[in-house]
Amino acid sequence: MHYLSIEGKQKLQGSVSISGAKNAALPLLAATLLSKNKINISNVPNVADVKTLLKLLGNLGASSSYDNNHVTIDTTTVKSACANYDIVRKMRASILTLGPLLARFGHCEVSLPGGCAIGQRPIDLHLKALEQMGAIIELEQGYVVAKAPDGLKGTTIIFDKVTVTGSENILMAASLAHGTTKLVNVAKEPEVVQLCEVLQNAGVKIDGIGTSQLTIVGSGGNLLDIQDFTVIPDRIEAGTYLCAGAITNSKITITNVIPKHMEAITLKLERMGFGIETTNNSITISPASKILPADIETTEYPGFPTDMQAQFMALCTQADGTSIIDERLFENRFMHVSELCRMGATVKLKGHSATVGGNSELNAADVMATDLRASSALILAAFVAEGTTKVHRIYHLDRGYENLEGKFSALGAKIERLEE
Ligand code: EPZ
Repeated sequence: MHYLSIEGKQKLQGSVSISGAKNAALPLLAATLLSKNKINISNVPNVADVKTLLKLLGNLGASSSYDNNHVTIDTTTVKSACANYDIVRKMRASILTLGPLLARFGHCEVSLPGGCAIGQRPIDLHLKALEQMGAIIELEQGYVVAKAPDGLKGTTIIFDKVTVTGSENILMAASLAHGTTKLVNVAKEPEVVQLCEVLQNAGVKIDGIGTSQLTIVGSGGNLLDIQDFTVIPDRIEAGTYLCAGAITNSKITITNVIPKHMEAITLKLERMGFGIETTNNSITISPASKILPADIETTEYPGFPTDMQAQFMALCTQADGTSIIDERLFENRFMHVSELCRMGATVKLKGHSATVGGNSELNAADVMATDLRASSALILAAFVAEGTTKVHRIYHLDRGYENLEGKFSALGAKIERLEE
């Protein structure tokens, strides 16, 4: 096992190039199960979750290669429709194979993803929507056993809650269904939009892209001709680096980004007193004369992203005043709080609300990562702490951040990956 050793009281400088979005790459790789041809995908982030999904697709019979952020994948050789537990338990996003496998083969077995550190994370909305499309869903020994022998049928589906992977699963299923599907209260995240665009380029008629209502005309079971594509930049990785510049009061630039995808993040940083300059594919953050406290409520896109909540909490410990953070999407996404408090932060939790004291002198400590984004919050705190912090269980980080210590070192951080 490895840990990260991070020296505190650091300044950063220079620019960092942002990788492709993990949360775009995962549904897009699952969508290749709908394809009748080999596909070339560029800007695929070199992160553990992508490798895990490629392994799962390989176990199903697909052939793929990964080289220098480029994936070539051919799923025409897929024979099995059973995504087994030992991979799914490692990555809940494997549930994204459910819709495509069922639509393509008319039956599939996908292990129920366990919960995870940030919450129970049910998939009831995915399953209910597939049943509405005519699927017979049974839960057997921890597996979702789904059947649709006559194929899936288009219908109107109103999601009780906005669900990102739920929207993606049903969008992929609807692309091969018989007839037209109308999705209401569908997620609008940029990652969902890119999936719509790739499916549309493959010949699927989709109206309402980017809105909360989609109409999809299914191919009636015919596989799609998916065209080569490039994964969009990771807005959460990008936001994490902006927070690193902010918390160290440094001027840094992030490149290969789509500023439009990050408006909730950059607006919040400006409200906290930081300077933000954008071009069409880069953002530069400049120090705040005084970091102002924030009032944050996480919500679905285009609102403030839950995946940036932990990082902003670390930043708020340095604000000149008390901040309030309401986590509205997940019931347990405050796992980073206890570790931040061990470093000297003062955070009070009451239900889904956190009160974050400002002007905190943080001290280095041995801390434990618990989930992907909580880990990055601990790294940000370590940059301003007195002394050298050790962040353990960094396999959580490796799931979603490509070459993190390499990128931070290039910005001047003293950070290294060491063996426990
Ligand atoms: C996606 O997870 C992201 N993962 C998450 O990013 C992100 O935090 C989340 O969306 C919210 O933006 C991927 O895209 C791979 P949801 P997802 O379904 O789809 C409830 C990261 O750090 N819900 O939108 O699993 C659920 O419990 C990860 O990269 C149901 O009740 O999230 C939650 O409270 C973490 N029933 C809310 O909806 C369902 O069937 C939103 O969840 C589905 C969801």
